[in-house]
Amino acid sequence: MLLRRLGATLWWACAGAACGTERGDAAAASTPDIEPAVLTDVNPDPAIVEVSIVAAPTTVEYLSGKATPAWGYRDGARAGGAPSIPGPALRARRGDQIIVHFRNELPEPTTVHWHGIRLEAEMDGSTSVQTPIPPNGAFDYRFRAIDAGTFWYHPHVRASEQIERGLHAPLVVSFDDGIDVTRERTFVLDDVKVASSGDLVESDTLDLMVGRQGNLVLANGRTGARIAVERGSRERWRLVNAANGRYFTLRLAGHRFTVIGVDGGLLPAPSRPVETLTIAPGERYDVLVTFDGPPGTEATLETIHHDRGHDLPDPGPKPLVEVTYRGQVARAPAPLPGVLSAYEALPVTSTTPVRRFVLGERDARDGPVFSINGETWPFTRPVVVARNVVEVWEVESSPAMDHPFHLHGMFFQPLGADGRPDPARGWKDTVNVPRGSRVRFAVRYDPPGMWMFHCHILEHAERGMMGDLMVMP
Ligand code: C2O
Ligand code: CU
Repeated sequence: MLLRRLGATLWWACAGAACGTERGDAAAASTPDIEPAVLTDVNPDPAIVEVSIVAAPTTVEYLSGKATPAWGYRDGARAGGAPSIPGPALRARRGDQIIVHFRNELPEPTTVHWHGIRLEAEMDGSTSVQTPIPPNGAFDYRFRAIDAGTFWYHPHVRASEQIERGLHAPLVVSFDDGIDVTRERTFVLDDVKVASSGDLVESDTLDLMVGRQGNLVLANGRTGARIAVERGSRERWRLVNAANGRYFTLRLAGHRFTVIGVDGGLLPAPSRPVETLTIAPGERYDVLVTFDGPPGTEATLETIHHDRGHDLPDPGPKPLVEVTYRGQVARAPAPLPGVLSAYEALPVTSTTPVRRFVLGERDARDGPVFSINGETWPFTRPVVVARNVVEVWEVESSPAMDHPFHLHGMFFQPLGADGRPDPARGWKDTVNVPRGSRVRFAVRYDPPGMWMFHCHILEHAERGMMGDLMVMP
């Protein structure tokens, strides 16, 4: 197993909500905790989460004995702490006030974007609302955690480079949702393109076209991750795809995933259990996994090929996490509630205005260039809309490949075949638009301010597939 040099010190640290469920079982203790560390909340007020995050260069060990220069976030409240990849998780309860003291120790400007969080536009960390924070600069982000769900944070400057080098971390907002699980885990899925020297490899033309795809797939920043689970247990996994271009199609032989939550929080009802789950870059899923195999079961969480166009070859399944049964759960989890959340469909009728967004790609002298409605960011004009108006967005993919389309600042409701919001798809902020097809979703414009929308294949966004949405107050 390849270990991150600095991760070892965090292994035995208590990982947020998972702490309370430790059983002191000797077998489980032999498997290291791969859960991302949790940022230190320095504010004694239980309704305020006040943390400090530093972005800084670091070194990791993706290949045994080879140092990889990288960038990571570290917990600024922990003296002597080192950056980690993924960065430490920001954990809050719904309704909490969040204060983040951010410092940039990178050699270039950066920002922090709170992907999926509804907040005031000035706090969104995109370059449309914030001048990037220079090296040695600092910025305080403040927002309220109004929605429970699985989110993540990452830079919005040269994102295809900065996120790839390691700047990304989970942001989890919880509440008492009545979902009884034996244990909760967070898996940040990613890949990196590493040379035999250990150095990260620069993007080639294919990477620019399809989004840099790595030769190593990572779960919580490591290859060869292992976890021990108890037979008869039910676990909740919060899944984040932080990769530049890779789609993860997860499979765990002998087990199925019950989707209970997506980008914007809990679904109205649990999905039927599925064998595979595809997660596009930027998306999140909350799933339940029941470990009801025979004693001693071993299974591999792996990602299988997702055909996303441009004739990318199928490399076969790639392992992410080895799962081993150890012991038996002491108490069987309570049945799932039939209703997980209230879903109110946005009022969509045949007269609701439809706004079209056509995603384009073409070759230019210095490589591929991307566009939305023929405009290439930053040479774009904002889309101007009125607050609280409901419209349908129709996003049309390019014929050559899939694009995960992301909108900042608000969630939307994907429409079903009948043209109405589909409750089974919940509230999303990132949706895959398969090549040669159109995806429709309904959105109510709120809050006011300047928001970005873009493809979450980061090379596409940085090379033009991005735009601004101005919501007038
Ligand atoms: Cu996760 Cu505009 O991004
Ligand atoms: Cu794209």
